[in-house]
Amino acid sequence: MRLFNFLLKDVTSKIEYYSRFSPSPMSIKQFLDFGRENACEKTSYVFLRKELAVRGANTMKEINLLPSDLRTQPSVKLVHSWYIQSFEELLNYEHRGPEDSRTLNDFLDTLVKIRNRHNDVVPTMAQGVIEYKQKFGFDPFISSNVQYFLDRFYTNRISFRMLINQHTLLFGDDRTTSHPKHIGGIDPSCNVPEVVKDAYETAKMLCEQYYMVAPELNIEEYNSKAPSKAIQVVYVPSHLFHMLFELFKNSMRAIVELHENSSAGLPPVKAMVTLGKEDLSIKISDRGGGVPLRKIDKLFSYMYSTAPTPSLEPGNGTQAAPLAGFGYGLPISRLYARYFQGDLNLYSMEGVGTDAVIYLKALSSESFERLPVFNKSAWRHYQTGPEADDWSNPSSDPRDAAKYKIK
Ligand SMILES: Nc1ncnc2c1ncn2[C@@H]1O[C@H](COP(=O)(O)OP(=O)(O)OP(=O)(O)O)[C@@H](O)[C@H]1O
Ligand SMILES: [Mg+2]
Repeated sequence: MRLFNFLLKDVTSKIEYYSRFSPSPMSIKQFLDFGRENACEKTSYVFLRKELAVRGANTMKEINLLPSDLRTQPSVKLVHSWYIQSFEELLNYEHRGPEDSRTLNDFLDTLVKIRNRHNDVVPTMAQGVIEYKQKFGFDPFISSNVQYFLDRFYTNRISFRMLINQHTLLFGDDRTTSHPKHIGGIDPSCNVPEVVKDAYETAKMLCEQYYMVAPELNIEEYNSKAPSKAIQVVYVPSHLFHMLFELFKNSMRAIVELHENSSAGLPPVKAMVTLGKEDLSIKISDRGGGVPLRKIDKLFSYMYSTAPTPSLEPGNGTQAAPLAGFGYGLPISRLYARYFQGDLNLYSMEGVGTDAVIYLKALSSESFERLPVFNKSAWRHYQTGPEADDWSNPSSDPRDAAKYKIK
């Protein structure tokens, strides 16, 4: 017990130590240049053993600030324990120099182990939020905290995996399975319309399995820089695929459910890919009936999710319903877009349909990781509740306005 307390204290003080550093954001160009120019495994090792500890410590400090009723839910505790264990494993390398090839090989194994351990973080955290909601109901203060926390926590996770994947794809066994033209997970000439088509085809397969039908795809391209050329970008194709796949699933579901019984057949889902000086934009449009404005923000909320709860067997991964699961499709996709300084917005016209637009930086030198930093201002977020509303509330009783006016 004493030894356990000692170890715990040691980890706590290390978390304290590493959380004082801010994460060092990398741009896609930096990832690319590093991987291209005779990538040095030792340099990568020395960078990662500290950077991963810093990013891990930053996020663990925030877990500690979650309201205790939420933090103590079994699923949240389980996720927290994974982070502590992975952090401890990284600490084992603090004093191991990069010269020994055994160290480098052990480190690769550790990274793969950590990546696997954290595979189910998103559904397990989602389960934690559900557990909390079932016990304590919905609370706007908690909800705004959860939103703030999970956006940062999942961004941190995306970045953690990005760093691990770059290292294992460049130096580990994953090397053999990676695409010959890719640098780690980055495609230096990622053909965007091709990824759009891939994501569409995969979503179409799911849609056909579930509904027996699927809408067609219409795709248009406007390359304002080189009008006759295909639109390419230096990007992580798996991230782009993830976002597009989520958008296509949503559009297909909306289209099929609205038009299933119409004699005119299904309207197509449209994709427009455009390239300007700064932005590469991708719009996915559907005529699936749209969403009222009042609900748009809520679609990005982790706590409001209306989707029926998918069953969760811890450790087995999740078997979500084919086209709708936790209701995390949009919020997580937006995090992927924002991670490299882009964005994802939804514009809907209720009664008709929805446009979803993904914005990416056209230049890889501008695509810097956007990372949460644990600092005073983050801390303050967890202490203060949502402000009292300072706009009129339509449901309040009629009252004598003169009484409340500032004289
Ligand atoms: N194109 C769209 N047209 C109409 N409604 C949409 C559209 N996109 C999203 N929605 C609404 O927003 C909700 C949230 O979407 P989101 O992708 O985040 O979660 P989900 O589809 O319910 O589940 P998941 O994506 O996790 O499997 C959907 O359930 C749906 O009601
Ligand atoms: Mg979805």
